[in-house]
Amino acid sequence: MHWPTPARGLYPDSWRALERLAEEGRIRAAGVSNFQPTHLQRLLDDSALTPAVNQIELHPGLQQAELRAFHTEHAIATEAWSPLAQGAVLDDPAIAAIARRTGRSPAQVVLRWHLQLGNIVIPKSVTPARIRQNLDVFDFRLSDTDMAAITATDRNLRTGPHPDEFN
Ligand SMILES: NC(=O)c1ccc[n+]([C@@H]2O[C@H](COP(=O)([O-])OP(=O)(O)OC[C@H]3O[C@@H](n4cnc5c(N)ncnc54)[C@H](OP(=O)(O)O)[C@@H]3O)[C@@H](O)[C@H]2O)c1
Repeated sequence: MHWPTPARGLYPDSWRALERLAEEGRIRAAGVSNFQPTHLQRLLDDSALTPAVNQIELHPGLQQAELRAFHTEHAIATEAWSPLAQGAVLDDPAIAAIARRTGRSPAQVVLRWHLQLGNIVIPKSVTPARIRQNLDVFDFRLSDTDMAAITATDRNLRTGPHPDEFN
């Protein structure tokens, strides 16, 4: 389910339909996107089917600590959309400094930060060299200090609509 569109009040009904498909064995899992903790809680209260994943806007500029904690508590996978903030975090001084020191690109540093937090990432690029670069992030690790320096860049930077208001 792509958005909860809460003012329409229909997402619990849609979820019941998915729950029925699961009961009938026609799907193995169902996921949501852009759900806030209150929307997820409503599904958990009403249904036996827990979302397998919540795909949310998530990057160093919008770190979504409350949602990620909720996901961990309920074994919901966290998937980041716009994981690079559409490029808006790539010239952040803290990220650029880590990139220079590790000999990686800022995008690779950001993707590595996501992976070390346990996030699923779906960066988008139409540039073959960047697509290759974005896959080449499994042979290095950020230190705790680097992770903390990126955590300190959180600044409520939303590139997309707010899920409470997008209807
Ligand atoms: N569920 C939802 O509501 C929702 C909402 C928005 C997006 N999404 C999904 O999230 C995915 C990614 O999001 P997004 O495209 O908004 O943002 P993104 O992946 O954070 O950023 C894409 C931008 O970053 C650039 N880029 C990619 N790799 C780079 C690199 N290594 N170095 C420098 N720049 C790089 C791309 O440029 P080039 O392409 O020019 O290389 C593009 O301009 C999309 O495929 C979309 O399906 C989901």
